[in-house]
Amino acid sequence: MRATAKTLYQIIEDRRSVRIYDPEADFDSEAVSRSLKSAVLAPNSSNMQLWEFYRIQSAKAKEKIAWMCMNQKAAKTAHELIVVVGRRDLWRKRQRALVEEMQRAYPDAAAKQAKRAMNYYKNLIPKYYWTDWFDLWGVMKKIIYFFVGLKRPIVRHGNRADIRISVHKSAALAAENFMLAMKAEGYDSCPMEGMDSLRIKKYLNLPRKAEIVMVIGCGPAAEKGIYSKRFRVPNEEVIKTV
Ligand SMILES: Cc1cc2nc3c(=O)[nH]c(=O)nc-3n(C[C@H](O)[C@H](O)[C@H](O)COP(=O)(O)O)c2cc1C
Repeated sequence: MRATAKTLYQIIEDRRSVRIYDPEADFDSEAVSRSLKSAVLAPNSSNMQLWEFYRIQSAKAKEKIAWMCMNQKAAKTAHELIVVVGRRDLWRKRQRALVEEMQRAYPDAAAKQAKRAMNYYKNLIPKYYWTDWFDLWGVMKKIIYFFVGLKRPIVRHGNRADIRISVHKSAALAAENFMLAMKAEGYDSCPMEGMDSLRIKKYLNLPRKAEIVMVIGCGPAAEKGIYSKRFRVPNEEVIKTV
């Protein structure tokens, strides 16, 4: 086995959800900065990067957000809290950035690859992300997919719920990158969805379509920070070979 694989597997194994952090232990907040830089390298749908990460550092803000996390110890004792936010509303901004990036990446606009990339970001992306108030376009897309799908494979997602799931998926991958990087830095973390997402959204002044994906508490673990031995159902139950 390669040394890099060994190191990575060890980090994955060592990461646990830690519910109590040591208030006295040293904490290098630069480790959070580095880990967040790893977070944004996560794979994400169409590279749209529809996410934001809010670092909650001040004592006052931490107390507020911890309260909104139902005063869970994992939040109350954390040295820092990261609010992972899904921003499907930013799709137009990201689309523009990606169109510009494609122009840079493929200077020969007539080349096949350039045309394909441009068509993807200029035509397909708006068709996927644009929504109307009643999600009628989403229903329409589902009907189109149904009929086209009778003849050939077609991507089935396209309504508002599908877009939201897609944004959450990508943000969750970034969150895992963050937690593994923090473990590699010698710190622990706990992802939390036990929280009042509406209050957090208001506190952070986020727009209506922004969604709180999770809050991550992090810091140096306290001695009794892990509540129980790790449990997973047997691999055979969840890993299938076809
Ligand atoms: C999306 C998500 C939400 C979670 N929410 C909470 C939470 O609100 N409070 C908590 O103590 N743990 C929470 N957890 C942690 C899980 O309980 C934990 O990952 C699981 O029990 C497995 O333990 P391990 O992470 O130590 O392997 C959450 C985990 C995920 C992925």
